[in-house]
Amino acid sequence: MCGIIGYVGPGPATPRILSGLQRLDYRGYDSAGVVVLDGDRIRVEKMPGKLDHLLDHLKKMPAMNGCVGLGHTRWATHGGPTQRNAHPHLSHRATVAVVHNGIIENHEELRRRLRKRGYRFASETDTEVIAHLVEDHYRGDPLEAVRRAINQLDGSFAIGALFRDHPDVLIGARLNSPLLVGYGEGANYLASDAPAVLPFTRKVAYLEDRELAEIRPGGIRVIDAGGRPRDPKVIDITWDFASAAKEGYPHFMLKEVYEQPRALADTIRGRTNRQHLHFPELEIPARRLRAAKRVTIVACGTAAHAGMTAKYAFEELARIPTEVVLASEFRYGDPVIGRDTLAIAVTQSGETMDTLCAIRAAKEHGALALAVCNVVGSSIPRACDGTVYTHAGPEIGVASTKAYTTQIAVLELLAIRLGMIRGTLTREAARPLLRAMERVPAAVEKALECDGGVAKLARKYAGSRNFMYIGRRYNFPNAYEGALKLKELSYIHAEGYGAGEMKHGPLALVDDTFPTVAVCTKGRAYDKILSNMKEIEARGGILIAVANPRDAKVRALARHVVEVPQTIEMVSPMVTVVPLQLLAYHIAVTLGRDVDKPRNLAKAVTVE
Ligand code: AGP
Repeated sequence: MCGIIGYVGPGPATPRILSGLQRLDYRGYDSAGVVVLDGDRIRVEKMPGKLDHLLDHLKKMPAMNGCVGLGHTRWATHGGPTQRNAHPHLSHRATVAVVHNGIIENHEELRRRLRKRGYRFASETDTEVIAHLVEDHYRGDPLEAVRRAINQLDGSFAIGALFRDHPDVLIGARLNSPLLVGYGEGANYLASDAPAVLPFTRKVAYLEDRELAEIRPGGIRVIDAGGRPRDPKVIDITWDFASAAKEGYPHFMLKEVYEQPRALADTIRGRTNRQHLHFPELEIPARRLRAAKRVTIVACGTAAHAGMTAKYAFEELARIPTEVVLASEFRYGDPVIGRDTLAIAVTQSGETMDTLCAIRAAKEHGALALAVCNVVGSSIPRACDGTVYTHAGPEIGVASTKAYTTQIAVLELLAIRLGMIRGTLTREAARPLLRAMERVPAAVEKALECDGGVAKLARKYAGSRNFMYIGRRYNFPNAYEGALKLKELSYIHAEGYGAGEMKHGPLALVDDTFPTVAVCTKGRAYDKILSNMKEIEARGGILIAVANPRDAKVRALARHVVEVPQTIEMVSPMVTVVPLQLLAYHIAVTLGRDVDKPRNLAKAVTVE
């Protein structure tokens, strides 16, 4: 997610904007920029890389004077992390400068239309479309120009706009992406979140969806997309900086667990519209995907669990043999892989050395290489023939959460696409799957309601020395994922098993000293997992069930039941993992662990 800071007042704007960008540093980004109205000229300076690059660059430039300006840190979604893709973006006649956080789904269509009207584009970003569109609507009233422009945008946006002939105004607008206004003394602010403005003011108002703000030194006017005045709720931020960076959550990991509905919506939105699937950034033609005779997924840790989940979808929907190989093992075996193979690297960071080496080896064997990644322009996408990006935004907690669920979403959408390309899945059969996928963010939102109950369970069982996790089919990998979350966050030993494996050995472990978490939502093997749970219950095992609402059969077996909404089986892992993430989180908190930075671990394992 990008960071935005805007200032309008007696000035100077630049130092306040740079100070605000420094406070947004924690958000993760790959380029930074600043724009000020310096006399009658809009001046833009922007650099790829970290803020220091921009600061060093500014030292070599004439001072950026002016009393109104915007700053931006970019987390790339459309277009790599280059200088020309960095924000701010200027309109065609340099009358408007824009910064943006979010994803404009209809940017390609708008780009085509604006090109026909003579607009020339300097970048690959969706944001630049906004700058030209605002200029296209501009007749002297900045607020009206932005209002008309946003009514043509689909997707998510938090926008800041500055106008060449208005040295005393900033315009802000939002849809599905946070944006606030800050009330200062004789100056006012715009920001993507509170940390950026805390040094200047604690009085803020969060804009609602489809609201716009006209920000002047003497006051702030808010209207809705229809032009009707709005009366924003002004609050006093009591958080300190560290809490504000987590938006009030005690840890980044918990914030990221709660961001999953938005992350999933951003990842799924714009790719499905009941008729067909759309991966704008995937530069692999359908004929090459159609030629694949097998799929090999290479990944590590949580990303491998996402791959294991997707195996069921690739085989069920695309009827293509699919294997998941731990990236750290791939190169040291003798994989049977060649031109008939679609190799998929799944990775949040795009820098995991095991996965990078594995996908390079797959390419050397002639495979078609595709990355599923959360970081635009990172090493693994650059090593592949094509990439589909998750839009989870920066994931700061070492334990992967929103990256995992968005990886599953992308992989299952790819499985649907591949099935349609191979003719094993008709358009009609795909429709209910796409509808179910579009409903996942709401189902995850509902699943988050289990948090309080799970926290109680965590306090009750935090002293256990072992945990077992079991699941079947699409939820079998979640047994591994739940166990991994617990291990890496709380340092308690935990094992994940396919539930059918219990009687082949692990049942010998069962007694009343540790819990078994059973993911037993409705699915093709539902009756089977009930009998596996009976085996455990009969031996005094403590069962914690993740189940669909009002499931009497589960209630008869489990000591504790955590309910999550029922969905089709294919998408259920994105929902059932939520209580597993929260259980691991709350146990770790109960034990006083360093939740965001667990011992011995790194966020990206960039060595073999
Ligand atoms: C997951 O919680 C861990 N942090 C770890 O297993 C991680 O998923 C693995 O290292 C892969 O990282 P990547 O997705 O960045 O490639």
